[in-house]
Formats: sequence, structure tokens, C-alpha cells
Amino acid sequence: MSQRSLALIGGNATPALTDDIARELSVQRTEARVGRFPDGEIDAQIEANVRGADVFLVQSTCPPVNDNLVELLILIDAARRASATRITAVIPYFGYARKDRKDEGRVPITAKLVANMLTVAGVDRILTVDLHAAQIQGFFDLPVDHLYAAPVLVRHFLNQRLENLTVVAPDVGSSKMARGYANRLGGELAIVDKRRVSGKDVEVGAVIGDVEDRNVLLIDDMISTAGSITEAAKVCHERGARSVRIAASHGVLCGPARERLRTAPVEEIVLTDTIPVDPTGLPTLNVLRIAPLLAEAIMRVHTEQSLSVLFTRSDR
Ligand code: R5P
Repeated sequence: MSQRSLALIGGNATPALTDDIARELSVQRTEARVGRFPDGEIDAQIEANVRGADVFLVQSTCPPVNDNLVELLILIDAARRASATRITAVIPYFGYARKDRKDEGRVPITAKLVANMLTVAGVDRILTVDLHAAQIQGFFDLPVDHLYAAPVLVRHFLNQRLENLTVVAPDVGSSKMARGYANRLGGELAIVDKRRVSGKDVEVGAVIGDVEDRNVLLIDDMISTAGSITEAAKVCHERGARSVRIAASHGVLCGPARERLRTAPVEEIVLTDTIPVDPTGLPTLNVLRIAPLLAEAIMRVHTEQSLSVLFTRSDR
């Protein structure tokens, strides 16, 4: 058992999740005051002694992405200067991850930039869930524990005992993830041919695989503007699916997402709470708790135990 005390600190992005993790761990949150200077700059102070502590800072870099990211950097700096022995950034949703390679001229690789910023701020480890691309782990030269929300989502759908199930990937990029779910839920696999026409609009073409008279589960790592998943839902519905459900690890839900989800031909929307989700106007929404998985991982990191039992990959 670790001799260092565990200090759990939450930023402003995910306060309810931090409280839920604290309850799971049976620890008191270490309070941190995060405020603003009149010009908008962020100020922070950790309100208890963390000298020598094993600090876990919980903060998703979800919208408002820039504020939440800078807040996390500032909290890491505060913990480092307060002589914490080890700082783990618990980032349930890791934003800026979609720009993970240079696929055009004169563009940044923001996932790498954010990794550099976290490293320079003084973080020792990263604990995160369903990175947009698993290879982002390699953008850090420090340990990254990459958890998958799959056990939480799979349990939910196994309880529904869906027969004639087809798990559908809303684009080629999520096909490995969908195959993993299909294997574990005992369903078939189908893939929607998606083309992105702008940041918030997509066009869908063929569905590769069988959705007619099937119970369809569309699965993705994130729902952002909901263009991808709702267009895929519509095409499955039009091709004669018996029912359509949609699920994702992260509910970013920006721009037109809520309206698209509200009017989509789906029986159920399932997300985890890596990002806080307001259920207003979304009666079919089910938000599943990620805190038990994160709390277990935090305790294992703290007590230097293996985490591999938790690494049920989404894509197997
Ligand atoms: C794409 O590569 C991702 O896996 C998601 O499909 C995408 O980011 C979702 O974005 P939106 O909800 O805006 O279509």
C-alpha cells in the first residue's frame, strides 16, 4: 500500500464526476478554488496541503475546451509548486485529439501540442478514456493509462438482450470499435460510408452490411455535432432497421447536436458521463456512470497495482 496520501482534486469541467469518483474511493475531495481575474485570466489555489501527496486532478477538456485545458494546466502547475510527489491528470475526455496527424499543408497537430503542454506543466502520468486515436498515448514520453468505456456500455446493452443485433460503425474510422462491440454483444457488423463535408455536416452513402429487419446499435467514440451518428441512424432506418439505438463514450454535444438527437429516428441514446450531459429535451437519453471504472484505476495507480485487468479494449 502506498505511504503517500491520495489527493483528489477536480477542475470546473466535471465537478459531479469528481464527486462521484470521491464517493467510489471513499475519500474527501481536496478543494481547489478556481476563479478569474477581472481580465478573464484564470487563477487557482489548492486549498489544502498536498506536500508529498499523490495528486489526481480530474478535468475533461470538453467545451469550453480552451478554458478547461488552461485550467488543468494551471492546476498541474499549482500542485507541482505545492510539492506534490506525483501528479496524475485524469482526463476522462481528452479534447483536441482529432487533429492527430498532418493530413494537409500548414496545419497543426494539436493532440501533440496538448501533450507537450501537459508535460511542460509538470504532469507525471495521464489517465484517460477512449482517446480518439489510441496512438496519442505515444505523443507523451510519460505513462498514459488508456481506459475504454466498453465494459460500461457493453454491460448496458447485454442487459437488454437484443436479438438480431447489428452493430453499425457510422464511419470507417469507428469500424474496429464497432467490431469489438459486435463480438461482445453477439451481433453482426455493418459500416456506413460517411464523407465529411464540413465541421458539422456529413454525407452518407452505402451501408456495407445487413441492417434490414435488424436491431441496430450505432457506436462511436464521440458525438460532437451529432451529424455522423444521426445521419447514419437515418440511413439505417430508411433501409428497414427494426430499431435503432445510438451510443458513444463521450457526449460533446455542441452546435446542432441536441436538435439532431431529439429528432433522430432512434429508440435510445446512450452516453457516459466523461462529459456532463444535460438530459433536458432528450427523453431517450441514458447517461452511464464512468466513475467506478476511473476510481478503480486511480486506486490501482495509487497502490502501484496493474491496470491491465481494466483494459478491455473497445476494438476487440
Ligand atoms: C470521427 O472521426 C469521430 O469518431 C466521430 O465520428 C466524430 O467526431 C463525430 O462528430 P460529429 O458528431 O460532429 O459528426
